[in-house]
Amino acid sequence: MKPILLVVGARPNFMKAASLVSAAREADLRTTLVHTGQHYDPELSRVFFDELELPEPDISLGIGSGTHASQTARIMLEFEPVLREIDPALFVGVGDVNSSLACSLVAIKEHYPVAHVEAGLRCRDPWMPEEVNRRLTDHLATLLFTTSRDADANLAAEGIPADRVHLVGNTMIDTLLRFRDAARARSVGDRFGLDGQPYAVLTLHRPANVDDVEQLADIMDSVRRVGELAPVVFPVHPRTRRQLEDERVLGRLESEGRVVLTEPLGYVDFIGLVDGARLVLTDSGGIQEETTVLGVPCLTLRTSTERPVTVTAGTNTVVGTDPDLIVAEATRVLFGERPATRVPELWDGRAGERIVAVIQRELAELGSPSARV
Ligand code: UD1
Repeated sequence: MKPILLVVGARPNFMKAASLVSAAREADLRTTLVHTGQHYDPELSRVFFDELELPEPDISLGIGSGTHASQTARIMLEFEPVLREIDPALFVGVGDVNSSLACSLVAIKEHYPVAHVEAGLRCRDPWMPEEVNRRLTDHLATLLFTTSRDADANLAAEGIPADRVHLVGNTMIDTLLRFRDAARARSVGDRFGLDGQPYAVLTLHRPANVDDVEQLADIMDSVRRVGELAPVVFPVHPRTRRQLEDERVLGRLESEGRVVLTEPLGYVDFIGLVDGARLVLTDSGGIQEETTVLGVPCLTLRTSTERPVTVTAGTNTVVGTDPDLIVAEATRVLFGERPATRVPELWDGRAGERIVAVIQRELAELGSPSARV
């Protein structure tokens, strides 16, 4: 039996893939793992393999950073011969990073069927790189695994046949539920000298927020003001650190003392830090989902979200990037009631199992889902 080929490349892929890899192992579904190397710093990659017990990749492409065109093109060039060599029954891509799109494009052109995990999410911002990756990957896929009904509706509206779409839940949440207790036990907040006091957590790495220095300076101004209400722990993504250093904003925040800057954290530490927080400010996609399940209020520093269920069912509020609005919302959350939250349908820790069951059924029935391409 040919293997399925699972590709990961960047930090948010690793927690999604971990659940799939372990479900495939349980079900005796042979899997080959390829790491494109889009992320390569130990704290953005290695630590996740170790903590999440991901097996060593069978093949690492070692691509590294670059412009969108060069990164995407290099992934495609390196992946093509690897794909031919592995000759899988099915290619599986997760999420919306450049690696997901680049490898899906290679796979379909080589006539391998494509499965997309976390399909159908749309924020409707045509300039956001991940929105481009999502839309295109979904239209290359034969099997589309979704996390929520709004994603199913988006795919239907784009003309994707319903029999390709499977609502399975959320593999990122599978991993969260697996590690939640271990994360809680670490009391990560204490490590930052917070000693039981209410604190906020900030993450920021979207190009739209950090690449433009004026925009970043505005956001940092609101962060400093939030810091006057409660200490803010800020694990800084490399893209953001470079910008902060350039403009000396970093030094200003450090001297305030209420905004604690740190290197990116490992998975379990980060979940522990978020779980203990009174408030999270973020422009990440996955953190909107994780805070929903952990019941921690989240302010999303973007003008839209591709994960509306985190707003309608969960703890998320999309606030944008206006400093006064951010501070007003942060004040409301810090001094208000903790919101009622409902965990979205099927976010129960078993999405990976469901995906593997569908893949096995498809492979058994059709020989290969390519019969439907
Ligand atoms: C990528 C994903 C984004 C995801 C994020 C999570 C795309 C288009 N973007 O954004 O969806 O939310 O990962 O972190 O795929 N860098 C390092 N070390 C690394 C990797 C990157 O220092 O290991 C620096 C480099 O200067 C690089 C910059 O970060 O140029 C951006 O990296 P890149 O992978 O292109 O995009 P991210 O901003 O990380």
